[in-house]
Amino acid sequence: MTKEQKLKSIADTLAKDMSLPLKEGATNDVPGTGSANADVVFIGEAPGKHEDEKGVPFCGAAGKFLDELLASIDLTREDVFITNIVKHRPPENRDPKPEEVQAYWPYLEQQLAVIEPKVIVVLGRHSLARLMPGLGTISMLHGRAFKKQNRTYMALYHPAVALYNGGMRKVLLEDFQKLGILLKKLNIKK
Ligand code: URA
Repeated sequence: MTKEQKLKSIADTLAKDMSLPLKEGATNDVPGTGSANADVVFIGEAPGKHEDEKGVPFCGAAGKFLDELLASIDLTREDVFITNIVKHRPPENRDPKPEEVQAYWPYLEQQLAVIEPKVIVVLGRHSLARLMPGLGTISMLHGRAFKKQNRTYMALYHPAVALYNGGMRKVLLEDFQKLGILLKKLNIKK
């Protein structure tokens, strides 16, 4: 099986998994999008209204800004893989509960095992808490790279924070430049 086929198979299993806690209220599964061969994977929190309607992560206002951030370092969605910790929309966009994060965790683990990214970018504090536990808060860690086993992790503020805090827009643009430098250093090509 190719990596694409393996990702499709994970998405098919997700679609049939009625045990998932947020499945019942969801319109669509939002497994992830982008290249199965990506060197960089972006991991957000959970789908929102637009993502639930379309089955595509980061396709609303925060996603538009994410596209802009990617373009600022000469990347497109097709160059990377974008997914979330939780693959269905929580009701009223509330924070995912720990047991929900736990229930979806095997799907993220399987996706990462297939893609084998060199760099994982965690977007926001929920993703940070799960993927880089115990290291510190997002305000301490954003824009810094951490090596764990054969992967490099970088935490960034969630793009949605820039929608209601203009100063954060600048911070995110600056942190993306740091990500761009990291990718160059690691010799990661498109
Ligand atoms: N916020 C997220 O964390 N993920 C999405 O897919 C959209 C908004």
